[in-house]
Amino acid sequence: MQYSALTEHTCAPSKTPEELANIVSLFASSDGWMDKVRLCTQRRWYERLHHGSGYDIWAISWLPGQSTGFHDHGGSAGAFVVATGILEELRPGERARAIHPGNPHAFGPDYAHDVRNVSLAPAISIHAYSPPLSEMNEFELDGNRLVPRERAPGQSETLYREWCMQRTQPIDRTGALSIEQVLAAARARLRRLSPHEALEAVTKAGATLVDVRPESQRAIEGSIAGALVIERNVLEWRFDPTSSARLPVATDHDIQVIVFCSEGYTSSLAAAALQDLGLWRATDMAGGFQAWRAAGLSIVPPHGTSQLSF
Ligand SMILES: [Fe+2]
Repeated sequence: MQYSALTEHTCAPSKTPEELANIVSLFASSDGWMDKVRLCTQRRWYERLHHGSGYDIWAISWLPGQSTGFHDHGGSAGAFVVATGILEELRPGERARAIHPGNPHAFGPDYAHDVRNVSLAPAISIHAYSPPLSEMNEFELDGNRLVPRERAPGQSETLYREWCMQRTQPIDRTGALSIEQVLAAARARLRRLSPHEALEAVTKAGATLVDVRPESQRAIEGSIAGALVIERNVLEWRFDPTSSARLPVATDHDIQVIVFCSEGYTSSLAAAALQDLGLWRATDMAGGFQAWRAAGLSIVPPHGTSQLSF
């Protein structure tokens, strides 16, 4: 079903939380909305996909680390469901709970919470509010008590206002991410290592150091003795434990892989790609080979050194 079929009745009365839960579930399983979703590294991305007198529907994307902070919904009841990924909800005095896809959460008009993505992958959720969201108040947690966040008069936030602001950004007009944004998103998922930390992880914790530079670059710059040479274009196939082309070292998803390139840019994207495969400990070496050399660590000089591998 196309989602537009769910949004025809714009004069419906206010919905109960249970009705909103059904709405977000139906909407999330409908066709035609996912291609509108974008990712944004600066802030959570929103799009209002329906606005009527009875309720509105929003899609929200969450990159790792993005969160709402504590907020209410300005007197609107609501419901949300995770379409993909995992979110975490925090309420005052309660333990955080993970929210997985497929189970809608509904709430009344006095509800306040903090929703965040603490996972390593993006998440997408569908939200509905009734009456349509017109105001959100922000809070700070003081012990188990919520304290209104200081704001100048008339400065209460609305999702709609934030959404309008987002639409003025070039990223939201095109849906495209720049390479800087993609890189920032990848690095937000990594606990990057300095050359000395990488060396220690290899020698003391059995980590695997992986050189993804092309052969031509290794021939010019030199190499690191003991590093596994896996060029970038085959990296995922060599480390996916379920791949028939995997390396012997790719025994499971728990191995620690430390990727490096020449300067530490490509390696961040490569490490994030390994995390996408479930290698949750994958990371990269900040500054790459050049930082390793600058740190005074041992290298094999260029020329006659291209066969280095385990
Ligand atoms: Fe909320």
